[in-house]
Amino acid sequence: MKTNRNIAIDGDSGSGKSTVGKLLAEKLGFVFIDSGLFYRAATLVIIKNNAEAEKEKWYKLVEESKIEFENGIISINGKKTTLGELRSKEVDNLVSPVSTIPEIRNKITEILRRIAFKRDTVMVGRDIGSVVLKDAFLKIYLTATVEERANRRFKELIKEGVNTTFDEVLNNLRTRDLIDSTRETSPLKIPEDSYVIDTTGLSIDGVVNKILQFYEGKEYALRNGPCSSKSTI
Ligand code: DC
Repeated sequence: MKTNRNIAIDGDSGSGKSTVGKLLAEKLGFVFIDSGLFYRAATLVIIKNNAEAEKEKWYKLVEESKIEFENGIISINGKKTTLGELRSKEVDNLVSPVSTIPEIRNKITEILRRIAFKRDTVMVGRDIGSVVLKDAFLKIYLTATVEERANRRFKELIKEGVNTTFDEVLNNLRTRDLIDSTRETSPLKIPEDSYVIDTTGLSIDGVVNKILQFYEGKEYALRNGPCSSKSTI
């Protein structure tokens, strides 16, 4: 049986996971999966059904929808979603509470595992190394200061044409950090066997190259037996 080469990248909101993960997947020829987009798709289902205020209905609505992934695009009940709608302010404001629902997490986890089972992926998220792909070939955890993360997300949103301010993005990130790290199911935490990289002040290429070095180190160890232990940067 072929050895699994999935790479799990976890980290705080705006730590650069998606940009780094996408580039890394391109370099390695792996499928890039942004797991946050699946939670955003579940949130979109709730918003489209006008059920924002009816928490008790959330899981049933998500369970009854078909969330699928093909060629880098997520579809809901056969209809393709766009990044614009998945990253809209409405979704931003509801996605953290939606992702605290254990049944919704289980459903998304199942979808993600099915994708990674057949293909080598670079999967980014919050609980990929700790829950979704516990046996990932390589686990990376990215951090950065909240101000740096807000600055990156703000620039991204402006580029995408979203009408917002830096303070709004900063406050939204702070709130989400708090919810994500204190929720009962799969709180954001650093898996023991992951490599931690602080990306504050680092270029995207710099981070990608560091991960590639870890990846090559793992490949080498697999072929020649382990020669290096876990490290923190
Ligand atoms: O990465 P992002 O900002 O697009 O993620 C949106 C939300 O989804 C975030 O607030 C937390 C949640 N999420 C999660 O709980 N687990 C994941 N693996 C990915 C995202």
